[in-house]
Amino acid sequence: MTVSKRISNINISSTMKIAQEAKEMLHKGIDVIDLSVGELDYPTPPNVKDAAIKAIDQNFTKYTINSGTIELREAIADKLRKEDYLNYSPSEIIVSNGAKQCVYNAIQSVINDGDEVIFSSPYWVSYPEMVSLAIGKSVIINTNERDNFKISREQLEEAISPRTKLLILCNPSNPTGALYNRNELEKIAEIIEKHNFYVIADEIYEKMIYDDNKFVSFASISEKVKSKTIVVNGLSKSYAMTGWRIGYAAGPQHIIKAMNKIQSHSTSNASSISQAAAVEALLGPQTFIEQMKNDYQKRRDFFFNEINSINGLQCFKPQGAFYLFPNITYFFNKSTNIFRIEHSFDLAMYLLYEAKVAAVPGSSFGSEGYLRMSYTASMEKLGEAAKRIKNALGKLT
Ligand SMILES: Cc1ncc(COP(=O)(O)O)c(C=O)c1O
Repeated sequence: MTVSKRISNINISSTMKIAQEAKEMLHKGIDVIDLSVGELDYPTPPNVKDAAIKAIDQNFTKYTINSGTIELREAIADKLRKEDYLNYSPSEIIVSNGAKQCVYNAIQSVINDGDEVIFSSPYWVSYPEMVSLAIGKSVIINTNERDNFKISREQLEEAISPRTKLLILCNPSNPTGALYNRNELEKIAEIIEKHNFYVIADEIYEKMIYDDNKFVSFASISEKVKSKTIVVNGLSKSYAMTGWRIGYAAGPQHIIKAMNKIQSHSTSNASSISQAAAVEALLGPQTFIEQMKNDYQKRRDFFFNEINSINGLQCFKPQGAFYLFPNITYFFNKSTNIFRIEHSFDLAMYLLYEAKVAAVPGSSFGSEGYLRMSYTASMEKLGEAAKRIKNALGKLT
């Protein structure tokens, strides 16, 4: 007896291996600086925690409507209207257990066997595996730092076939921090308007936008684009709420209905307590976001300068999210007497053992030759990490 074909086709990512190893080292008392994480080092804002405590005290601890409470879906509709100029009724919105579940349910809702799903590499680790679970086919457009990790109109046109059913657009991007501006989104939108397929706009990092850059929600480009787009967002990154598991999707009613069906037969509603907390996060004071953004911009500037000044590391300056994605190919075929570096995984393992710094190999994101490092650690830790990385890389010849 074996596991299903669908599951045996799925990879456990090397991200997990590095994170697991880093955790075991930390458990043994080894001073590892973990830059592999995908979350803020801030606690959840106190008003949000208080709302959850209140929900428990008031026994708001039972099943809710499968697609989320009306209060929360109205708060989300309000946010989308005010911030993104998008009009959705609560019936066009679903709340799920994290944005991850929204992406999964959206893919399951639109993909038939063999349908093609276009997205760019480097990609978020879960996209190809989710496509594979839906028996779809990933069509990957490769990007690199020379094109600012963004796809062009020509590349997209080339990737489209009669079997294309979906484009996934992660903006700003995990892992690169690249941000599409309005003009670039309009160019992509022109193609979407001409064709007959859906778009998942994964906008989970929308609040982490730096300098004078502006975030534009893809669905807001035109009514035609909106009618084909499933906007995915959530509170994990924006409100330091990764553990609360609240994500949401807004889109065409028939797709949201389909996502609701899947959710009703798998997890049911997201936690009632987390939903009450999410209403407060969205409707309460927003000062947290501005503070967090300013703080992360400082960390980005500092860590970017530190990493870019290390001989052999070349780094794209991210406009959003909270990751650096330096090119590390300079170190390929270099070695110490114990380690030889041939792939990004080797360099990640080398840095973990030699520098005690955990980073994620680019291969996990479909792009060999890079490492992903989160700059969500404190300035002090980032400074120490950069020093250790420089030292370790200096030993490779
Ligand atoms: C691009 C992207 N989309 C979606 C998610 C999922 O977020 P959530 O924690 O809300 O499930 C993540 C989390 O790392 C992400 O990086």
